[in-house]
Amino acid sequence: MKKAIVIGATSGIGRELAKVLSENQYDLGLSGRRTNLLETLQTEIPDKTIVKFMDVSQTEEASKTLKELISEMGGADLIVLCSGTGHANTDLDWSITKETIDVNVYGFTALANVATNYFIAQGKGHLVGISSVAAIRGHSSAPSYNASKAFQSNYLEGIRHKVRKLGQPIIVTDIQPGFVDTAMAKGPGIFWVAPARKAAIQIYKVIKKKKKHAYITKRWRLIAWLSKVLPDFIYNKI
Ligand SMILES: NC(=O)c1ccc[n+]([C@@H]2O[C@H](COP(=O)([O-])OP(=O)(O)OC[C@H]3O[C@@H](n4cnc5c(N)ncnc54)[C@H](OP(=O)(O)O)[C@@H]3O)[C@@H](O)[C@H]2O)c1
Repeated sequence: MKKAIVIGATSGIGRELAKVLSENQYDLGLSGRRTNLLETLQTEIPDKTIVKFMDVSQTEEASKTLKELISEMGGADLIVLCSGTGHANTDLDWSITKETIDVNVYGFTALANVATNYFIAQGKGHLVGISSVAAIRGHSSAPSYNASKAFQSNYLEGIRHKVRKLGQPIIVTDIQPGFVDTAMAKGPGIFWVAPARKAAIQIYKVIKKKKKHAYITKRWRLIAWLSKVLPDFIYNKI
């Protein structure tokens, strides 16, 4: 059995991905703050699964917990960083901005470092970050969310560059979903909303192919392209 850790597996994409990985013969280590949801998921997954409380915004404690999880599982082949927060923040409320940075930037970076250093020591491994198509361009509805996702995608590229230079067979995958039907995707104006299971199945296929980047679902490639080429005078009206 291969071994995978999913950070942020209590709900949404992470929860569905955990199930898909389990269906594909992975032993699992799962984390999140709502441990009751992890325990329920544990009963639904037939294989050996370890669950742990983790608040990624508490970076030192979260880093320690990830190291413990790796150790208790007897190693890890795949680590998926899926935890994230995102809220509309048109008033630039500082508590929302700070939470976004704490979770999506500090938490993400701390755990990406632990995972990468572990894989370097092991000489192999696969790191996956669940970023967003929001990474491509800033937006007035949630400036800190888009900026945090741009940070994640850029950081993953930096890690990929680093391990390539080391010449080690470590894969780094940047997943950029569009809208997925989870608690996070809410409010008017959302479209092409994919069921979380469909997103998870596509993410698993990307992992299996060891790709460095993918839009989820696939048709979000079109929106990504449009986001990149749209001139400001049109983009500013959206
Ligand atoms: N849904 C979309 O349309 C969409 C689009 C693009 C990208 N994404 C990205 O996909 C990822 C998963 O989100 P989702 O859509 O599946 O939403 P979700 O159901 O709300 O899942 C968010 C996950 O992040 C965890 N999390 C949040 N804050 C945390 C913290 N402080 N410490 C530890 N875990 C924390 C949550 O666990 P606890 O609350 O139990 O801790 C939960 O497992 C996020 O990174 C999100 O940015 C989602």
